[in-house]
Amino acid sequence: MTDGMTADIAQASATTFYCGIDFGTSNSTVSLATADRHFSVPVEGDAEAIPSAIFFNFTTGKPSFGRAAIRDYMSGENGRFMRALKSVIGRPIFHEKTYIGKRHVTLADILGLFLRHLKATTESQIGRDLDSVVLGRPVQFIENAADLDRKAQADLEGAARKVGFRHIEFQFEPIAAALEYETVVTGEQLILIVDIGGGTSDFSIVRVAPDRIARNDRSGDILANRGIRVGGTDFDRALSMQQVMPAFGHGSHYGDKHIEMPNGLYVDLSTWSNINAIYDRKIHADVKLLRRQAESPALLDRLLAVIEGRAGHRLIGDIERAKIDLSATVQTEIALDYIERGFSLPVRRDDFVTAIADLMARIEACIGATVADAGIAPNGIDTVFLTGGSSMALPVQALVRRLFPQAQVVSGDVFGAVGKGLGLDARRKFGR
Ligand SMILES: Nc1ncnc2c1ncn2[C@@H]1O[C@H](COP(=O)(O)OP(=O)(O)OP(=O)(O)O)[C@@H](O)[C@H]1O
Ligand SMILES: [Mg+2]
Repeated sequence: MTDGMTADIAQASATTFYCGIDFGTSNSTVSLATADRHFSVPVEGDAEAIPSAIFFNFTTGKPSFGRAAIRDYMSGENGRFMRALKSVIGRPIFHEKTYIGKRHVTLADILGLFLRHLKATTESQIGRDLDSVVLGRPVQFIENAADLDRKAQADLEGAARKVGFRHIEFQFEPIAAALEYETVVTGEQLILIVDIGGGTSDFSIVRVAPDRIARNDRSGDILANRGIRVGGTDFDRALSMQQVMPAFGHGSHYGDKHIEMPNGLYVDLSTWSNINAIYDRKIHADVKLLRRQAESPALLDRLLAVIEGRAGHRLIGDIERAKIDLSATVQTEIALDYIERGFSLPVRRDDFVTAIADLMARIEACIGATVADAGIAPNGIDTVFLTGGSSMALPVQALVRRLFPQAQVVSGDVFGAVGKGLGLDARRKFGR
């Protein structure tokens, strides 16, 4: 527990706590609000964000969470590692049973374990049970399919109910970020929230002002909300497919008929939520067969090394790290000795920019549509509030400055703003 948190809890010990949970594709946070304060909860040691990661240890039968899960996976423990669970909420596979070691469970059960962990960690710090929560949600879990989107929210609600939350409300993640930003503004502003996380990009245009905070109904201040399923995990996939997968045989050929290697294999290996699919026994056998007929067998040996070493998450994690490096440096190196001795791949910032060009075009179009929905000109935006880890990517920063040259650009607490705003919203919703 941090000193700040200790002080926050001590100050607040006689009052009610209102809880917000930002269950993210990549990272999750919990926040608490009391009558006069709000703060993030240290959910893993001192850290206020926990990677949305679970590792099932087949030897001990126990799950681990967050950084501990990543450590267990990396240390080669026998088990199953899972990330980006939020990406499959609302999909049929979310409710399909699968074997995790000897356990027959659904992804919904696994999401429940993660939420239960967040809830229990928070409860142990405040010494009381929580039964109400505001959960964040992207503007669209699933694009342009209202029924599936409703199902996705119902899936998340069902998981929260199962772990003991009785009063569950939802708030759009970018609106939560706006509520958090509003606590520091000194005058009225029209703001555009740009929340680019691991799985989605969400945009809201909101009128904020110190004297509007206390109003019960803010619907008139919310001018527009839009969102698309494009986020940092898609940047990782794009970079992987363009720069890394060719070195594992993507685009190479096999057999007398000179057939190209199946694309889906490489897409799965580049997609955080699908990686476990490539460890399937049949896929392994197929790849061994393809290797025998391959024109470049050495490339397929690397693919086999990933499958046999269960190294898919490690590989995409290294690609993600290279992407993050490229926010600070123009060139970096992905060291892949665990695949093949001496094997490494250079990646340049320009390569990344090319790889994500189509995704950036979708982000730009969605921002344009959000501004149009609000019925304002781009120069009507006073401030662009950037949040979500992927808002630190240079192409995103450049886009925002190009579209809103006159606006003040504020980079908030990129991993915590949404969560903190959800705590504030919980106080608004449950505190009456
Ligand atoms: N410096 C950086 N440059 C580029 N990307 C970054 C940087 N730091 C983190 N990221 C990316 O930010 C993403 C995670 O951001 P965040 O934790 O805000 O997402 P999330 O809230 O879990 O996802 P979502 O809100 O979409 O469900 C990851 O894809 C990560 O690679
Ligand atoms: Mg987020």
